[in-house]
Amino acid sequence: MAYRIIKTEENPILKKISKQVTDFDEKLWTLLDDMKDTLYKADGVGLAAVQIGILKRVVVIDTGDDHGFLELINPEITERKGEQREIEGCLSLPRKSGVTLRPRWVKFKAQDRNGNWYEAEGEGLFARCVCHELDHLEGIVFTQKLAEGERVRISED
Ligand code: NI
Repeated sequence: MAYRIIKTEENPILKKISKQVTDFDEKLWTLLDDMKDTLYKADGVGLAAVQIGILKRVVVIDTGDDHGFLELINPEITERKGEQREIEGCLSLPRKSGVTLRPRWVKFKAQDRNGNWYEAEGEGLFARCVCHELDHLEGIVFTQKLAEGERVRISED
């Protein structure tokens, strides 16, 4: 277990598309364990591997609800319903926030650390977080998903 350094927005890697995971081996498990440590240390709710400089389709999430801690490998959103406009931030964009337009509810499929497919669904923060982290895999950050008429807010510290 180890903490990894979170890349911030001036790093061009955040704009790159992450690659499918094909090997469900110890190297992946170490990455997942490190991502979990890094997520909790940073007091975040979600982290994508690209944020620590690894271009693999790997995400960890813990939005503090009944879903608990989740590992999402090669995730895909399969259903979405409704809309929500809520404030959002990102560990890679410290001090920035903004109101995004996201689905109210999403269902996704993903592989676990052994390569087994599973499905999960949720609304509110969970849905926002899933969308936000999956966007990272496409090189997209939340400031590109602002709701109409909204702008990026920058806090003092
Ligand atoms: Ni983020």
